[in-house]
Amino acid sequence: MAEAPDRSVSEAPPGDAPVRDAFLPYARQTIEDDDVQAVVDALRSDWLTTGPRVDQLERAFADYIGTRFAVAYSSGTAALHGTTFAASLGAGDEVVVPAMTFAASAACAAYVGATPVLADVDARTLNLDPVELERQLTPRTKAVVVVHYAGVPADMERIGAVARSSGLRVIEDAAHAAGADAPEGRCGTLGDMGVFSLHPAKQLTAGEGGIVTTDDPELAERLRRFRNHCMDTSGREREQKGAFAYTIEELGFNYRLTDLHAALGISQLGKLDRFVERRRGLVKLYDERLAGLPLDTPVAPPGTQPSWHLYVVQLRLEELSTGRDEIFDALRAENIGVNVHYLPVHYLGYYARLLGKGAGDFPVAEEAYRRILTLPLFPAMTEDDVDSVVAALEKVLGRCGAGG
Ligand SMILES: Cc1ncc(COP(=O)(O)O)c(C=O)c1O
Repeated sequence: MAEAPDRSVSEAPPGDAPVRDAFLPYARQTIEDDDVQAVVDALRSDWLTTGPRVDQLERAFADYIGTRFAVAYSSGTAALHGTTFAASLGAGDEVVVPAMTFAASAACAAYVGATPVLADVDARTLNLDPVELERQLTPRTKAVVVVHYAGVPADMERIGAVARSSGLRVIEDAAHAAGADAPEGRCGTLGDMGVFSLHPAKQLTAGEGGIVTTDDPELAERLRRFRNHCMDTSGREREQKGAFAYTIEELGFNYRLTDLHAALGISQLGKLDRFVERRRGLVKLYDERLAGLPLDTPVAPPGTQPSWHLYVVQLRLEELSTGRDEIFDALRAENIGVNVHYLPVHYLGYYARLLGKGAGDFPVAEEAYRRILTLPLFPAMTEDDVDSVVAALEKVLGRCGAGG
């Protein structure tokens, strides 16, 4: 048993002023005047939903990622649900999902009655470990959801080899990875389908939104139908043909993206490369300035070009006299908006019960969870902001040195 952390060492002395006056969030969207104008133009147009701006976003996104098709959804979570439907997964099927991810990566299997099966992750990248993927395979395994954690591409060469030899569908959960490149190609082109999130914390935003990329025309067609109640035609198609009849052969949802969201998404897509470059520059600053502190900075495997949705450090707890939670609180008191991504999926009540898993089952994800801290990272951050985060870490970790 680890000793209980000593809270007193991480607490600031009475009267101590925080490093920053204003709170620095861990993520923040960048919205410029032309983004605002794009949404206003959509509001004044004939189509507020299922209109031409949704088509335009899909075309531009497919071109950017390099796939034949892209299908827009109302959120990344809805888009993930679309992929498990499109792949015809259901009861009795197992879907392997990394233990260190947001719950939506596992939910998409459960939504269609399939069973998410967790696999442990690589200790440094926190991406799915191909050996652990192989360990979780059974005759019922039909698909794997591969997360590019923090925007760092997963090991698609080895994961792809396992998937091919076992006939698995590969769903890339690229919610963190817009604009990231692996040695094998761009994230979103490396499986049967790639899923992106357009939530404000991500590299580009539509307010809310999701998008699936694929080269497979049949999957694209199923993805399009599923987001619109599984109707065989869209309202716009019927309107244009002057027809009213449609049929519904399978259970679908209303997961449509509006043209207001699509307008923002199109405008933001034009800025994605600039936003990603800025993120890469900030990561370089952090890497340089955090060297020498008792923490490990994130790694990019050789040949990868991450797009850095998150900057996650791992505290070297063996060199510290207190735990992550106390350091988290102390940094918040310095007005640094640190966060934790993620609680391992099997620590969440619903999934613990569904999977019958608990502490000790995924040791690498669990050990990482004790150490991880997400530091603020977003394109509008300044060098001074980075310096304030580093200064706060020096101050807090300085109080928490081993034996300190
Ligand atoms: C790995 C991962 N997958 C899926 C999602 C879901 O995306 P959304 O918030 O757009 O539903 C998220 C959201 O943060 C995520 O981090």
